[in-house]
This record gives sequence, structure tokens and C-alpha cells, in this order.
Amino acid sequence: MSLIRLLPETVASQVAAGEVVERPASVVKELVENSLDAGARRVDLMIRRGGISLVRVIDDGCGMDRDDALLSLERHATSKIRSAADLQAIATLGFRGEALPSIASVSRFRLTTRETRAMTGTEIIVNGGKIEVVRDGGDAPGTQVEVRSLFYNLPARRKFLRSENTESRNIEHQIHLQAIGHYEIGFSLMRDDRMLFQLPAAATLTDRIRDLYGAELLQRLVELADGASPKIRISGFIGQVGLSRQTRSQQLVFVNGRAIESSLITAAVREGYHTALMKGQYPVTFLFLQLDPAAVDVNVHPAKREVRFHDPNAVREAIVRCIQQTLETARAGWQEKFRAPIQLSATLSPKAAPNLMLRSEVSVPTETDRDLPHLDTPVAGADLSGAASAKVDNSGRGVVEQAYRLPSMRADSAGAVPVIQSQPTKAAQQQFQIIGVLNKLYVLMENTDGLVLVDQHAAHERILFEELRCRMEEQGVPTQKLLLPQTFDLPPRDADWIERNLSILQKMGIAIESFGPGTFKIDGLPSFLDVSDPAQFMRKVIDDLKSAGNSASAIRLGEEMIAKSVCRHAVKANDPLRYPEVEKLIRDLLDCDLPYCCPHGRPTMIQISLAELEKKFGRKV
Ligand SMILES: Nc1ncnc2c1ncn2[C@@H]1O[C@H](COP(=O)(O)OP(=O)(O)OP(=O)(O)O)[C@@H](O)[C@H]1O
Ligand SMILES: [Mg+2]
Repeated sequence: MSLIRLLPETVASQVAAGEVVERPASVVKELVENSLDAGARRVDLMIRRGGISLVRVIDDGCGMDRDDALLSLERHATSKIRSAADLQAIATLGFRGEALPSIASVSRFRLTTRETRAMTGTEIIVNGGKIEVVRDGGDAPGTQVEVRSLFYNLPARRKFLRSENTESRNIEHQIHLQAIGHYEIGFSLMRDDRMLFQLPAAATLTDRIRDLYGAELLQRLVELADGASPKIRISGFIGQVGLSRQTRSQQLVFVNGRAIESSLITAAVREGYHTALMKGQYPVTFLFLQLDPAAVDVNVHPAKREVRFHDPNAVREAIVRCIQQTLETARAGWQEKFRAPIQLSATLSPKAAPNLMLRSEVSVPTETDRDLPHLDTPVAGADLSGAASAKVDNSGRGVVEQAYRLPSMRADSAGAVPVIQSQPTKAAQQQFQIIGVLNKLYVLMENTDGLVLVDQHAAHERILFEELRCRMEEQGVPTQKLLLPQTFDLPPRDADWIERNLSILQKMGIAIESFGPGTFKIDGLPSFLDVSDPAQFMRKVIDDLKSAGNSASAIRLGEEMIAKSVCRHAVKANDPLRYPEVEKLIRDLLDCDLPYCCPHGRPTMIQISLAELEKKFGRKV
């Protein structure tokens, strides 16, 4: 007896719908993509009850004549590809001819459409996949699709839907993706009769980001530096170091205009940020990749959310490089700001400045033990001329009046009574102005924008990290001999792996050699590490390195090892530093590749702008 039979068309569509239409947001995605493919300039959306009760999408695209409108509801009917060869290089968002029939088979569906120059349009009503009405209709040129009662005929599917709020948020996210991916198109979203946003067609991505997320976010983004590879154009924005999120929700990635999810790209972005990102945090990206459509396979995921690259390594490398370069360029801008001499108004004489003496006297220690004014100890007032003046009292100690900023001069080395004199030229040369140290941890500095707080511990971590990394890259990490060399055994695959990667391990400062089949001997470890059980440590390194997969990442792993260890060596909070030490610390920090965060991604410095201070003091609203 024959057991196999062909499924009726409606059931086949419902099966297909299971893959294409997961939830209301998928309906929104498919309909908006159709509108974009139809050349729409604006797309207006309306949803009710999380899109479960209604999704309506209205566009001003090319519309369809009656025959096409009917055909669009057939499975495998598409205007976007004609032959298998077209599948090799897809330039449209849709291509399978599946979305409309799938959606129409699991909802109460209504399509009205009119071509631009046609006198009348067409209206088609479909219920659960059955065409019920076909008549003249359609008012404005373009297409309107209404999807009501989603999954009304598939109760099992309906049960999987989340709360209306969650579904609405998914839809909003979907529209954000489309709106960022297509800034030149106007979008509006009405949710349960409330207008959530109306985005006019924008001239640039910058405008669209501002319209959608506000100017504050925009200020914290940096534009991606292109030019990484001629075959892969990368553009868009990423968050400055210090800007990150607890979820992936603002990690937007587009490949040839299509919003996609890609673990390859996410990993590459992370690698690009590397130590500039805190563990468990996600970067903010508006990342656009443009490459030859023939170099990407978009036909790999039922909802077209993923793609496959023909040369994934090239893509990964281009992204990593691009992000690193961008963050480094941003660093130059940041340093520039720091180095800008403070603009002092010529009209402000010391006399005109209010004498804000907190204590009447500040003792000036001799050079050898001269500490910065710690702000829980005596502090001075303001001298807007840029140099401190001093008197010498009878006890032979210098008394600073109005020591608004510390002069960069050195007291004479003979240890004579230090006299701090006005040194306008030196002060003017000074690249940054240190005010003092708060709570033995935060270095207070002044720059053109206002106040900068530097975490001395985090700063020192960053400096040590970059020093060690540099050494690792140039000559390999210095090795410290173990008192007692250790041997350990490994299973054949791990042993084989070590054999092949001995040179990487040696570069990382691990002195390891083969000691018989499956046995190895370690007699040295990186000198900056403090490891109690070398064999255990080696097993961990092998696991990590194996999962890293390639040599570029092995260097990264070495960096990680360094990052973990520098913490132990860095100056701690509460280590009181002297002025020259602090000055050196800040200079060294500014010379780092990524000065604004420690190797664990925590900020090293925080800027509090004059505008913020003015706001806090109620000078400005
Ligand atoms: N808003 C629209 N304006 C004009 N034509 C449309 C619109 N929506 C759909 N069409 C036409 O209907 C066809 C079928 O749409 P459908 O979404 O089912 O398939 P597709 O977009 O070709 O491929 P995919 O299933 O990958 O989305 C499209 O190829 C297009 O010609
Ligand atoms: Mg489509």
C-alpha cells in the first residue's frame, strides 16, 4: 500500500510558513523587504497587539498589475530571479518567491496594489491560504498588505508567541534594522494607534542614527575608517571605547544592505575591540559591508537572516583591521584634545579671578619627596595666569598661593630650599594640566573641555599591558626559569597540537619541549606570570589556543595572558604617587595605543565637561 502522498498546496505553504514566518516580526521583515525591493521611498507600518492582531505595511513602490498580484501569492513565484544562475549573485532582499504565500496561508490576508500609471488597482483577500476575493481596488499607487489574526489556523504556533509587548519590541527592532539599513527611505510605525516614530527620508546614515537614537548616542560613535580591502568595503559607525551594551541589541550588521546575524562578524568585531571591551559587554555597531554579491551566498537561512561568505577569513580580517584602525584614529583625536593648551582669556587677570583659597597655606615639599596635592590634604585656590607663585616662609618651606595647577618645573636638585617661581613659558608648553590626586586613586586633570579623571591603577594596567605586548611581538615574552622543571602527559591530539605550535608557545614565553611520546617538559614560563601549577596552566593554555584556532588569535591569546597578569603588577589604588610619577604615568598613558581603557575594557579616564559642570551648578539648563 502506498504511504507517500503529495501534500495539498495550502498545507505545503503552511509547512513553508513554519520556516519563513516565526513570529509577527518575521511578517514585518518580509513585507518591508518586499516594499524596499519594489523601490518604495516611504514605508508606513501599523501594528496592533504585538502584530498578532494586525500588521499593515503601506508602500509607495512600483505596485503590481492584477496578474502579477495573483501570481505573487503562488509559491515559488518571484520577479527577482529567473534562473539558477541568478542565485549566484542576488542583489535584491527577496528571491525565493515564498514570503507572501507563506504569510497568506497562516493569516487573514489582504493585498491592495496599484501600479503608478494604472487607472485602477487590485484588491485580493485570502483566508488561511484560500483566495476569497479578487476585485478592483487600491487607492494610491503602491502596495498595501494587511495581515490579521496571525496563526489563527495554527493554534500550536500561536502558543509559541510571546507577550504582546515582547512581540512589539521584536517588531520595533526589525524596523530599526530596516531603517538603519535604508536611511534614504522614510519610515513610520504606529503601534496600537500610537505613533511610535516617523522618520523622514534622511540624507545620511548619521542623520538616521540621530533621528532614531538621538544625538547623544551619535556623539559616542566613531565613523569606521574604510580602505581595509578593495574587495570588501566597510563603512558605518562603531561605539567609542567605553560605550557598550549588556545585550547584542545595538549590534547592527548589514551585508549588501541586508541586516544579518553572523557569529563570524560578531567575533571579528570583538577581536577588533579586544581589550577595549569589558567581559560580558557587547559593542555598539552600525556596520555595513559591501562586497560583490557573487562573494556571498544569501540562500543559506530560511528567514534569510544569515549569509555565507566565500572567503570568510578575508571578511574577518578586514573587519578586525578596520575596527582596530578606527579605534586608533579615534585615539589620535582624543590625544589631540588632551594636548591642546588651555585657552586662557587674556582679560582674566589673577586679580579678577575669585580667590578661592580653601586653606590658607599649602606646604611645598622638596623635590625628592614632593607629593601631588592630594585633595584630602591642603589644597590651593586658583591662578588663572597659568603659573603658580610662591613665597618662602621662615620655616624654609615654600608656601604656594593660588597653586591652581602644578608647574612642570623641577626644583633644583641640590635640595636647596625649593622655590616655585612663575614660569609662564614652561607652563604654556605643558601638554596637560594636572590638578591633583583624589583619594590616592584618581588623578584630576584639566583640559579644554573641562575636568578629566584618570584612574591611576587602570592607567598603569594599560601601560604595562602595552609594554608587555610590544615585547611579545618584537622579541617574544621573557621567560622565567622554573626552579623545578615539570613534565606532563597529554592525549595524542593535544600532544600533536603542541608539536605543531611549539614556536608560538615559545614566543609567548613558555619554554616547552617534547620529552618522549605524549610527554612534555616545561622549564620556563612568562616572567610576568605567577603560576603555581605549570602543568595545569599548560592544559588551560592548550584548550584556549585550540579554540582560538589560528595564529592571529594565538597572539591575541598571549595578550589575554598578559592582560590577566598585569593587574597584579600595576600600581594599586591607594599607592600614593609623587608628582613626577603621576606626570610620567599620564604621559605614558597618552602614548598607549588605546589609552582610554584598561586591558579589561574598564575606562582609564572619564571626562566631565565644563558644560556638564555648568549644568550641575545650575548655570545652564
Ligand atoms: N510591496 C510590493 N510591491 C511590489 N511588488 C511586490 C510587493 N510585494 C511583493 N511583490 C511581488 O511579489 C513577488 C512575490 O513576493 P514574495 O515576497 O512572496 O517573494 P520574493 O520577494 O520574490 O522572495 P522571498 O520569498 O525571498 O521574499 C515579488 O517577487 C514581487 O514581484
Ligand atoms: Mg519577498
